[in-house]
Amino acid sequence: MRRHLAEIVEARLSRRGFLGGAAAAGFLATAPGVAAGSAVPPFRFDEIAHGVDATHHVAPGHVARVLLRWGDPILPGAPAFAPGAQTPEAQMGQFGMNCDFIGVLPLADRGGRERMLLCVNHEYTIPTLMFPDLFDAAGRFDPARYTARHAALEQAATGCSVVEVERGPDGWRHRVSPRNRAVRAWNSAIAISGPAAGDERLRTAADPSGTRVIGTFGNCAGGMTPWGTYLTAEENFQFYFTGTLPEGHPEAGAFRRYGLGGRGDRYPWGRFDARFDMGREPNEANRFGWVVEVDPLDPRAMPVKRTALGRFSHEGAETHVNGDGRLVIYMGDDARNEYLYRYVSKGRVSRDRRANRRLLDEGVLSVAVFDESGLDWRPLVFGEGPLTPANGFRSQADVLIEARRAADLVGATPMDRPEDVEAHPTNGRVYVMLTNNRDRTAPNPANPRLANAYGQILELVAPGGDHAADRFGWEMLVLCGPPADPAAGARWGAGTSANGWFASPDNCAFDPMGRLWVASDQGNAWPLTGTADGLWALGTEGPERGVGRMFFRVPVGAELCGPRFARGGRTLFLSVQHPGADGTKEWAPFARESTFHDPATRWPDFQPDMPPRPSVVVVERADGGVIGA
Ligand code: FEO
Ligand code: CA
Repeated sequence: MRRHLAEIVEARLSRRGFLGGAAAAGFLATAPGVAAGSAVPPFRFDEIAHGVDATHHVAPGHVARVLLRWGDPILPGAPAFAPGAQTPEAQMGQFGMNCDFIGVLPLADRGGRERMLLCVNHEYTIPTLMFPDLFDAAGRFDPARYTARHAALEQAATGCSVVEVERGPDGWRHRVSPRNRAVRAWNSAIAISGPAAGDERLRTAADPSGTRVIGTFGNCAGGMTPWGTYLTAEENFQFYFTGTLPEGHPEAGAFRRYGLGGRGDRYPWGRFDARFDMGREPNEANRFGWVVEVDPLDPRAMPVKRTALGRFSHEGAETHVNGDGRLVIYMGDDARNEYLYRYVSKGRVSRDRRANRRLLDEGVLSVAVFDESGLDWRPLVFGEGPLTPANGFRSQADVLIEARRAADLVGATPMDRPEDVEAHPTNGRVYVMLTNNRDRTAPNPANPRLANAYGQILELVAPGGDHAADRFGWEMLVLCGPPADPAAGARWGAGTSANGWFASPDNCAFDPMGRLWVASDQGNAWPLTGTADGLWALGTEGPERGVGRMFFRVPVGAELCGPRFARGGRTLFLSVQHPGADGTKEWAPFARESTFHDPATRWPDFQPDMPPRPSVVVVERADGGVIGA
């Protein structure tokens, strides 16, 4: 870190005592002035230990049960999960793969049982853990065996689900209910609305209107709106398009900026379906990378891609109602050196559910420009500043379709992969998970480490609690990584234990007391920390500020997603995504790549005929009390 940057970060950490590189080197130990008068109660639970093994772990005194597994039937008439012998039609009636975001929508009790709808994303599929018939007799994966049926099955397993769950005497279970819904990449019709709807860049042979698209995929995190709809965020859509644009095609530059055509045949859907082949249907890729609104209360309502929120690798879309009634959505573009965005609706949230939908079509998208002491939100509005025909923008549709280039031109600050961004419910602060960035070559105040392997969490400060303000302040909450290694440059609150620190913050959640919980996703890099991913409580106030505490750990190869509290903090839903998948070569007891036939773990069933199954887990305290209180 350059000297002046080190000083800036020190200043942005200044209000409290931190341990980390500096502490380990012996300089920093004083506990400084702490923000007093905090109403946030401290965390109370005994933390678990870092480590890696085949199953999950939760803090003592809590019970964690598997609620919904990949393949569980959710729609009436759906067959039982038949691993290795699935059909696309069966998978459309079953819970999808790789659960991520979880939203909850409480329903009225029935028969004395509490009920709710869970809204769950299925981010992506893993063919090597899904299809036994893609391996040859020697057990080698053979992509040449991949057929149209495999593509359709993957499409049927990615997207999102709405599932009714109820709490009986034995705890939570899901119901096969007519309320349930599967919106997937396969056969699900989705409308396109907002300023880019109907634009010529969104028109295709199958949809000359540019207003109707089949499917959603790459659904990472999301958000719930105040009117009870579900926002599902399309993240890594670029992996699903193959082929090359026709020579001299006008989209060539824009597609490069979005990583299209750069990763080859990651999902070879384009071999079987022209719309995923950029050479045959160039505009199809412009119809992905949006935030999609789903109405869980009306299974017949067509989902809608809301283009006013911009097009990029959308991590999530958590909402906040500003003091003046406008809806504010903070959004990260999860790619290295991409940006942090904010959307502010033109109108105000009202009791009229239908009118509220317009809030997602009319508003201003802005991007964050950080400096030493604050950040400016620069609007991405056609005709303003550089966003003019002179720079190739002909309309607001162009600005939204190429939000990244528009953000480049207004001077947005390149970030260390912005993941979840969530506003505290009441105090005007906003927490930004920055997961890591191995490609950072030029540090800046909010992203101060080169080749950042561990990530950091920023705290944005909306002045006077006004989330629509043009300028915010910011502080550095933590610089993640091992506090005992001075070279890591980590900074944690004094009192963080050997298990309380973590790396690669990804998803986050506030509990009903306004306390922050952070989930990690280290991918194959978990050996850097020696622990599987998990969920940590992370203090933001008083002496606990910047102090982490490990609450839940996932099985080997998984990441933790979707933390969502319900029932006044007495219930916590978690997604355990891709168990047995990532970094299993580095796990000494296994030391090889997982496959369908030979996985590193068969969590959660541990049956010889069952592959590892991404699942939603429900956590409660054994005595029924508030989690962590
Ligand atoms: Fe799908 Fe950014 O994690
Ligand atoms: Ca994520």
